[in-house]
Parts: sequence; structure tokens; C-alpha cells
Amino acid sequence: MAKALDEFPHLPLAHLPTPLAEMRHLRDELRARGARNVPRLFIKRDDCTGLATGGNKTRKLEYLLGEALEEGCDTIVTTGALQSNHARQTAAAAAVAGLSCILVLFDTVPYKAAAYRRSGNLLLDRILGAEVRVEDADADAVKIFGALFEEIKAKGGKPYFVPVGGSSATGSLGYANAYLELADQLDALGLDQSVLVHASSSGGTQAGLVAGAQLRGAGPAIAGINVYRKDNAAMAESIHALASKTAALLETPSPAQGSIDLDGEFLGEAYGLPTQEMKDAVELVARMEGVLLDPVYTGKGMAGFIRQIMAGKYAQKEAAVFLHTGGSSGLFAYEEEFTAG
Ligand SMILES: Cc1ncc(COP(=O)(O)O)c(C=O)c1O
Repeated sequence: MAKALDEFPHLPLAHLPTPLAEMRHLRDELRARGARNVPRLFIKRDDCTGLATGGNKTRKLEYLLGEALEEGCDTIVTTGALQSNHARQTAAAAAVAGLSCILVLFDTVPYKAAAYRRSGNLLLDRILGAEVRVEDADADAVKIFGALFEEIKAKGGKPYFVPVGGSSATGSLGYANAYLELADQLDALGLDQSVLVHASSSGGTQAGLVAGAQLRGAGPAIAGINVYRKDNAAMAESIHALASKTAALLETPSPAQGSIDLDGEFLGEAYGLPTQEMKDAVELVARMEGVLLDPVYTGKGMAGFIRQIMAGKYAQKEAAVFLHTGGSSGLFAYEEEFTAG
């Protein structure tokens, strides 16, 4: 018997279930552009999880902050790039839980627009009351976190560290839960041949979904779009390892070796650097469906989804679902990409 998700410490933060909406105009447009055998297209709105502009990290933080509270911690520490959506949602979750929050943000993305360094998520982190510490790209993380934990303890505090992207087995439980939720929504629509496509970065979302599929035994196939690492095979392997750890927590069998579907064609030059296909996808989905994607994750993810549909990859399916993992506040940090012309 697998372990039930409600047996884990859990702090309710998200508005669930998130909506599953059909994208009829996008489907018509792709058919007009020559796509054949296009399944019904849907969007699962995890940008509507409700916490300080929403996004996928909220589901992970429900389990992570549940654990932090159970351990009696009072200061949440996490990390990411300057425009981390994860950091913004962590700041909001800590505020809801009544805990302090310190964000250590590494200046790793070689994107030089002025707005990147002051607007978007960075602005929201400060409004949400987090303490923001910016470090150089090549700073020694082990030393920095060691010193920070000592500093918190010296003041009588108890830190809880949330790994980058909230991507531990505990955080990934949030996406095992999301898989069960989506599979039930698809069942209710009578759609049992489906696929779920999403942007993959630190891997916890995909790992959790895969663990959820192991738990449920039936439901949509899962296809990640790599927006993070050049080495696609190594990233797929680390997602498999995290999915196996998450499955072990749930006392359900590990996924088969080599079963992670991860497309490495849409990253572009590097993580956080815009691509033309991303910009086209962001504008197309905004204009067809009134949905705002983001420049770092869901824009590249949607570029992948569209190209896969155009190539007929899902012609055998009844439905292809794009998981909107949030991030639209990042558009303001990349405003220059969308204001020309
Ligand atoms: C908007 C958005 N989409 C997708 C992802 C990728 O999720 P994961 O890091 O779990 O792979 C992130 C991660 O930061 C994100 O902020």
C-alpha cells in the first residue's frame, strides 16, 4: 500500500484545484498554419495557485513549509538566480507562515538589461518582506550558506534550507499531488489518451509528476522541455534520481531507468537568455488565449509544445495539456524584449 500524500506535514497555501482550460483559438491557429491531426489542446493553470502571482513552487512549498513548521524552524533560507520565481513564492509562503525569509540570489544570468536588476520578481521579493542578499556568480556557495546558518543560530534562530527550485523529494510531493489532480480532471472529461508538456529546470516538477504517475498507475504521459542545462542526458538522469527518491517517500515503485522524456531543443544559448521562438510563443498565446507566459520557463516550454504539435508528435493523443507553471512577473524584467516595434 502506498503512503497517502495527506500523511506528510503540509501547510495549505495554494488555491486548488487549479483550472484546466481548453485552448481552442490556439488549436485553430496551428491548424491554419498547416498542423495536421492536432489533438484537443488544454492549459493547466498552475499560474493561478494564488500566492503572490502564483506558480508551480507554491505546491512544493506546501510540503516544504509544512516540514519547516513541524521541525520548529523560524527562518526560511533559499536561493536562485536574481529573477527567481521560486524565491518570490518562498518569500510569500514564509510571510503566510509567519516566518522570516532570507533569499541568497546569485547573479548568474548574463542578461544585462537594467530592468532585470530591479524589476519583476526582485521588486516583489522586497515588497513581500524578504531579506535579499545578492552574490556574484562565482561566489563560494558552501562558505556563504555556512556563515549564514551560523549568523541565524547566533541570534537564537533556527534555519530551514529550501534547495534551489524547491526541488527535494519533499518539495516534489507537491507535483505528485498535481498529477493526481490533473488525471482526475482529464478522466472527468473522458480523455484517457493524453500528454502533459511543461518546462523543466531544477527538475522537481517533472520528478513529482513522474512519481505521481507511479502512484496512480494510469494517466497522462509526461514530457518535459529543458530550459536549464546544456547536458540534456545528465539532466534527465538527475530528474530520474529525484523521481525515484520521491516515489520512495510515497512507498511506490521507482520509474523505469531511461523513462524520462526531456526535450533539449528549446534552451537556446543559456538559461535565462531569450530566444526568438520564446518571444513568438509568449505573444501568440497572449493574443490567442489571453494568457501571459514568462520569458525564462513557460515561454520556452510553450515554444517546444507548439513545435511538437506542428511536427505531429501527439497526433495519436486525444488531448495535449500544457502545464502553465507561472512566472509572468518575470516579463517586467525582460520588458525590452517585447517593446520593440
Ligand atoms: C515559471 C516556472 N516554470 C517552470 C519552472 C521549472 O520547475 P522545476 O524547477 O521544478 O523544474 C520554474 C522553476 O523555477 C518556474 O519558475
